[in-house]
Amino acid sequence: MELSSDQKELVELFVQQEFLISILYKLFARRYPEHKVFWTKMAKEELMHASLIKRLIESDSQNKIKFTQGELRKNALTSSMKFLETTINEFKNDETIPITQAARVALQLEKGLWEKKVFQFFEGDSDEVRRVLDSLNSEQGLHIIQIDNFGLQFMGKSAV
Ligand SMILES: [Fe+2]
Repeated sequence: MELSSDQKELVELFVQQEFLISILYKLFARRYPEHKVFWTKMAKEELMHASLIKRLIESDSQNKIKFTQGELRKNALTSSMKFLETTINEFKNDETIPITQAARVALQLEKGLWEKKVFQFFEGDSDEVRRVLDSLNSEQGLHIIQIDNFGLQFMGKSAV
C-alpha cells in the first residue's frame, strides 16, 4: 500500500483527532467519578472510530482509498485538534471546572466537527472512504444527541 503523503497525513490527522477526543473523555471519566460510565463509553467509542480509520488504510492493498478536499479537511482537523489540546490542558490544570462545563465543551466539540463536515464524504472520495465516513458521520450524530441529553440533567441546577 502506497498512499501519497498528503493522503497519509490526512488519515493520520483523523486518527490523532479521535485519540485526542478519547483522551479528553477519559479525563472527564476520572474527574467526574459519578459520571464515569458515560464518559468511559464515549471514550471507547472514539477509540473505535480511530481503529475504523486505521483499518481503512490497512485493508487498502490495492491503493484505492482516496480522500478529496484534502486542504479543507486538513484545516478543519488541525483547528479542532488545537481546540482539543487547549481544552485537555484546561481540564488538567483546573480541577474545579464543573461537570456542566465538561458537557458544554464536549457538545461544542462534537457539533463543531459536524458543522465542519469533517466526517461527511465529498464528491470523488473512494467507495471505501465513503463507507467509513458514512458510519463515522452517523456515530457523530449519535454523540451529539447523547451528550446533549447528558447535559440536560443539569438544566435548572446550579453549577456543581
Ligand atoms: Fe464523538
